[in-house]
Amino acid sequence: GARAYHANVIDHYDNPRNVGSMDKTDVNVGTGLVGAPACGDVMKLQIRVDPDTGTITESVFKTFGCGSAIASSSLATEWIKGKGLAEAGGIKNRDIAKELRLPPVKLHCSMLAEDAIRAAIKDVKGKQAAAAETVKVAAA
Ligand code: FES
Repeated sequence: GARAYHANVIDHYDNPRNVGSMDKTDVNVGTGLVGAPACGDVMKLQIRVDPDTGTITESVFKTFGCGSAIASSSLATEWIKGKGLAEAGGIKNRDIAKELRLPPVKLHCSMLAEDAIRAAIKDVKGKQAAAAETVKVAAA
């Protein structure tokens, strides 16, 4: 029941932070789109990365899923803002689950957030590397 949910979950559920979408063709925007096979829920998490500093300056999400998945993505976007890619990539689903006091059956919901962060980082790294290569070729 609802009483099993901690106040932190309720707050991120009632007032999710950073809901939105960014242009996924932007070279400095990484997009992670992941799904949970167990329930079919889907999460899209995006990050904007400053190419000079490697810092995540902005993060938004759209989650088509349960309350715990929404709360997990909301918390994830808050946590990764201002972090470097390596640090953000080190965020574990168990940290999210602990912060939100998710019950064991909801652990896969926080796993979505971890997977989405990783996927977004991989995407932006690939795009920024390709862009840097293009600049080099153009200058040659
Ligand atoms: Fe599947 Fe929460 S029940 S993401």
